[in-house]
Amino acid sequence: MNVYDSERMADALAPDGYVQTDDAANADLVLINTCHIREKASEKLYSDLGRLRDMKAERADGADVTIAVAGCVAQAEGAEIIRRAPVVDLVVGPQSYHRLPELVARSRSAAPPAGDDQLAAAFEPRAKFDQLPKDRTATGPTAFLTVQEGCDKFCAFCVVPYTRGAEFSRPAEDIVAEARRLAEKGVREITLLGQNVNAYRAGSPDGPVELAALMRRLAEIPGVERLRYTTSHPNDMTDALIAAHAECPAVMPYLHLPVQSGSDRILKAMNRRHTAEAYVRLVERLRAARPDLALSGDFIVGFPGETEADFEATLDLIRQVTYASAFSFKYSRRPGTPAASAADQVPETVKTERLARLNELLESQRQAFNRSKVGTVMPILFERQGRHPGQLIGRSPWLQSVWTEAPDTLMGQIAQVEITGVGPNSLVGKRIEARAAADASA
Ligand code: 5AD
Ligand code: SF4
Repeated sequence: MNVYDSERMADALAPDGYVQTDDAANADLVLINTCHIREKASEKLYSDLGRLRDMKAERADGADVTIAVAGCVAQAEGAEIIRRAPVVDLVVGPQSYHRLPELVARSRSAAPPAGDDQLAAAFEPRAKFDQLPKDRTATGPTAFLTVQEGCDKFCAFCVVPYTRGAEFSRPAEDIVAEARRLAEKGVREITLLGQNVNAYRAGSPDGPVELAALMRRLAEIPGVERLRYTTSHPNDMTDALIAAHAECPAVMPYLHLPVQSGSDRILKAMNRRHTAEAYVRLVERLRAARPDLALSGDFIVGFPGETEADFEATLDLIRQVTYASAFSFKYSRRPGTPAASAADQVPETVKTERLARLNELLESQRQAFNRSKVGTVMPILFERQGRHPGQLIGRSPWLQSVWTEAPDTLMGQIAQVEITGVGPNSLVGKRIEARAAADASA
């Protein structure tokens, strides 16, 4: 979501003449978009600010550089950032990005701002979505599109309900219009985003619209060939959504469905409100609907009170489900969340050891999944140049990177590719048309 938000901030600032640069040392405005989910992500801000302070001081041309902090650290620790890092001119939380042009302009004017002009941390997302520019300067064939923000689930480890606020779903009409504009710009694959994307539910002139119905409407837009959505909570996987995987060809056979732990005791302590068994059954129903469905997940090791037996239950669940890809984390204590004050915190050394074992299993499953695709033919959406001329890199339906020889004219298009090999992080393939031509001339 931060990638999407950063793009939207750039869109909002474009009318004032701001263009993106890769070189912070020459920028007039440096905007740091931050993540608060784990302590490490959060700490990064202060080390980045230290570097920017030196850079600003050493700036030879004496240019007036504005430094702004956005994202969830801004939301959660805005006042502290201003106190701790005087180099920061402006702090804006995730629901205030539409105010960025005005806040930046005021910050760069003669009278330096203070109070509300320096720290914007509202909680109401509606105004943002209404006021951000309609047009997106999207490039490339894939795009993110936020449909939902916030979370009402309150998992015991997680800051999201506090930083992003309550669940909010954008009106379906607005999403369809945004998707249509993306498709007109050449976007073929849209990933719908939300902290609780499958809890999406909005009113519309035709009655309530849930995620499955929204995707069916998006799939009708000319040019929209692929749809994905992330991140989902198991308890919001409705029958309609499972049916959409079976019936709607645009919905890709790949689902990010975090379970966090395979131990019922820990799931309960995490306030996940489902059992390991319920999750496994849900995966079975999804796979019955769409047999080639691959899963990705999130796992936390070392949640307070996690024993060796609890951890092994997580490994067991992973063996039972099998994942094509996954993200795994050591539990990180987040201020203000219930689990942070639990007495039975797990020692760091134990977390490290469990994470290594978890990753070993997940990595072997990822590689097995990739190997299982060798010899199959799949549609690839080409999205960037390969390392060598004449090569393109694209995405499989399962989000794998696939590179193959292909002419530039196929950029942004979908072509059938036979997978011929696997590398550590990508697949190699041969276009079917290219192979047919070679066979004919042999
Ligand atoms: N510690 C470790 N991992 C966390 N996540 C969320 N909060 C924490 C935390 N306090 C992970 C969860 C979630 C993902 C986005 O980040 O696995 O699904
Ligand atoms: Fe955090 Fe996801 Fe749980 Fe919400 S559902 S509290 S975003 S982990």
